Amino acid sequence: MKQLWIRVVCGLMCVYFLAGLALRGQQAPAGKPFDLIEWNGGKFIYGADYYPEAWDESQWEKDATLMQAAGINFVRMGEFAWAKMEPQEGHFDFAWLDRALKVLNAHGIRAVLGTPTASPPAWLYAKYPDIAAMDEKGVRYRYGSRRNYCVHNSDFLAATTRIVTAMAEHFKDHPGVIGWQIDNEVGGPKCFDPASRAAFQAWCQRKYHTLDALNAAWGTIFWGHTYHDWQEIPLPWNTLYDTHNPSLALDFDRFQSDSMHTYVDVQVAILRKIGSHQAITHNEMGMYSEIDYYDLNRSLDFVAWDNYPMGKEDYSHYARQALAHDLMRGSKDNQNFMIMEQEGGLPGWAAFQGRQAPAALYRVWAYQSVAHGADGVCYFRWRTSRYGTEQYWEGILDQDSYRNSRYFMVARTGKELGQLTPLLHGSKVVSPVAMLVSPDSRWAQQIQPGVEDFQYERLMHDYYDAFRRLGVSVDVAFPPSDLSAYRIIVAPALCVTDQNLVNKLTAYVKNGGTLILTFRSGVKDEDNVVTESTLPGPFAEIAGVAIHEFDPQINEEQEVLGPGESSFPARTWSDILDPTTAKVVATYGKGYYAGKPAVTENSTGKGWVYYVGTESKSPFFYDRMIALAAKKSLVALNQKIPTGVEVAVRQKAGKKIVFVLNYTGTEQTVPLDIAYQNALTGKTEPMDAQIPAYEVKILTER
Ligand code: GLA
Ligand code: GLA
Repeated sequence: MKQLWIRVVCGLMCVYFLAGLALRGQQAPAGKPFDLIEWNGGKFIYGADYYPEAWDESQWEKDATLMQAAGINFVRMGEFAWAKMEPQEGHFDFAWLDRALKVLNAHGIRAVLGTPTASPPAWLYAKYPDIAAMDEKGVRYRYGSRRNYCVHNSDFLAATTRIVTAMAEHFKDHPGVIGWQIDNEVGGPKCFDPASRAAFQAWCQRKYHTLDALNAAWGTIFWGHTYHDWQEIPLPWNTLYDTHNPSLALDFDRFQSDSMHTYVDVQVAILRKIGSHQAITHNEMGMYSEIDYYDLNRSLDFVAWDNYPMGKEDYSHYARQALAHDLMRGSKDNQNFMIMEQEGGLPGWAAFQGRQAPAALYRVWAYQSVAHGADGVCYFRWRTSRYGTEQYWEGILDQDSYRNSRYFMVARTGKELGQLTPLLHGSKVVSPVAMLVSPDSRWAQQIQPGVEDFQYERLMHDYYDAFRRLGVSVDVAFPPSDLSAYRIIVAPALCVTDQNLVNKLTAYVKNGGTLILTFRSGVKDEDNVVTESTLPGPFAEIAGVAIHEFDPQINEEQEVLGPGESSFPARTWSDILDPTTAKVVATYGKGYYAGKPAVTENSTGKGWVYYVGTESKSPFFYDRMIALAAKKSLVALNQKIPTGVEVAVRQKAGKKIVFVLNYTGTEQTVPLDIAYQNALTGKTEPMDAQIPAYEVKILTER
């Protein structure tokens, strides 16, 4: 009897241990790009964000069974469960999470655990009220909601260290926990309390060393704002940005981004020390501008981000998500990434945001993520919450767990991704074009837009969308990125530059690259101080133009004649170009500067620079601009992609994997360059591919 008992226990332990070995994630060797599929035991990451703490334990087994049946092999959990993990200061309870993991792991489901710092417990705020962030009027946030902590508060840092250390120690050897998500969507609110002010002053001191250097860099001679003591340096008021020193305001934005990065790094350091085999990521926010993601991602193993196409807009505007994917990929040197929150139902907080999308469209959006380089898709969330702020934010399942059309869509996609894994594994997006995003320029133009109608993101989309309409893949590059391999670089409103970036772009053009610059290029140096030179400042020589006059077109409609015979509406701004060596491509059509150059083309070294002095509402203007640049740099265009259809490509060993995504409610015909094989059916597709409404085709070269 005793022997049998021992054999049963040993047998169970052995099963648990072997299951553990089978589940333990693999880490990439140092220096190599992180391989997400290898990390997930060779499986394409397919998951759901799961909140076991909010459901009766009797539900867990049913959930895990339904997940497994839908091909789900991954969950993210725990990121809002601080109060349940540490119900009293220094007293921890992870037993419930162990039990949940055991249920999920038994169904072959691995987990990433979120450190729960985005939502600190009520007792922590009650004991240390100063951990709440302070707004610019000096009012502290009240308890409730989430993310309203202040990262410069020492009690909050101590509490963070305690919970992260306890979690890391508890889960470091757990075979079913393959990684960590730090916090949740780090970002605002900015904190304006005395601790933050002292932190900013210390940051300035580290950057400038002397007050003379700071005063010179910021140009504090203006309005006599000279500082004689570090403690005199104020925090800018958001509401008074327009009268604040723009150099101070830009440094404050950099400081904020650095502070979030430092906060993430505090957690990364603990996790790396204690749980070194587990990978670390963070769920980022695509186009969100307050964090320099390129910088933040230096300390993370791979990029994860939260992708919400939302239901409000015309679904055919796929480029909004496409650009966000490409920016996220670019923020870690184009390594593949994963989606930590992929829209799995209708979004909404107090109100549902828009109409319910057909279930089929959620599948197309999931494939869009894959097409842009995701090696993992995890839906937000498994089931709609019955409680709290997000009662109107739909999960895959609704509150009753009925297997609805979204569940079957998820299951279908999961099965397909399983089938596609060998093909996708090791493939990535390769682009001939890069869009250069400068966090400094974005911040500087938020501080001083120059003209009311200026929108950096819109300007990015003007060019980006045109490339995508013409079937061209685009990477997003950041100032430190390697630019040398691109045929075309678009640098929208590169207002703030430093000598390194100027040298890099100059060398790029001289070596044969094509660079598209726009209005508001080269206006300021890295201190957000206006250049002494004639605009476009450090780019005047390679662009072959001088700008002695410009017109911020407030409420006026200008017109651009060209490129070619057509005329296009102009908006936002007009640089009146005075070519030194450049050739005129388009001129203005109206008013006192009619006939003056609006767009120029200059040959420099082996390359070309286009300077586009204005913006247009017309997509055709950008199609023309891209056609000009593409001709010079030998980039192939597909002129016949129907509106609302995206063609996106991953490559592997020089062969293409083509995703044709139809976001419209009607069947579409897409002419392709060759007859591809359908990766799911194995059949050869005609060169004029037929794509049904809200469908996707994944095609490979034979
Ligand atoms: C007022 C002020 C000047 C200057 C101008 C332009 O006239 O007296 O110092 O600020 O406005 O803003
Ligand atoms: C973000 C958060 C999630 C959830 C969703 C939906 O992406 O990370 O916790 O709140 O939005 O609102």
